[in-house]
Amino acid sequence: MPRISQLYFKTAILFLIIGILMGLNMAISQDHTVIGAHAHCNLLGWVTMAIFGGYHALNPQKAETRLAMIQYYVYTAGIVLMVPSLYLMLQGNAAMEPIVALASVVTFVGVLLFAFIIFSSGKVVVTPSAPSYR
Ligand code: HEM
Repeated sequence: MPRISQLYFKTAILFLIIGILMGLNMAISQDHTVIGAHAHCNLLGWVTMAIFGGYHALNPQKAETRLAMIQYYVYTAGIVLMVPSLYLMLQGNAAMEPIVALASVVTFVGVLLFAFIIFSSGKVVVTPSAPSYR
């Protein structure tokens, strides 16, 4: 598996752990105020990052490019900034609002970079199918 896929999966599993901890905390405390932070942590952090990592695993040539690394750092910075600031904002800390806004823009730039990677030409590597045992 390419290095960037490993990086994406390692980062993604950390977000899933944090997201689940938030979910369990909401369930136990019966206070669902931070539902938005939980949902974004799980969906942008775990699900989307795992999809990015999977895409690079299927396209190892694109995974080796500098743009792929830049995209990883931009997108990850956006989520790392967004999850805690959104969590605090939903808890009533209005001062976090501009940080949430900035994090959202950084995350969107990361998504646009990934769109560019998807549309850029690169040899698609098809994994050979497993041998059939009759
Ligand atoms: C053990 C794991 C998890 C626990 C304990 C948990 C717990 C919760 C709780 C308590 C809520 C609030 C429900 C409400 O107020 O209506 C919630 C909402 C939500 N969770 Fe989780 N969650 C878990 C995993 C996940 C995962 C893995 C994802 C996504 C990949 C996810 C996505 C969401 C979303 C999108 C909502 C908002 C649903 C809505 O607004 O209707 N959760 N979760």
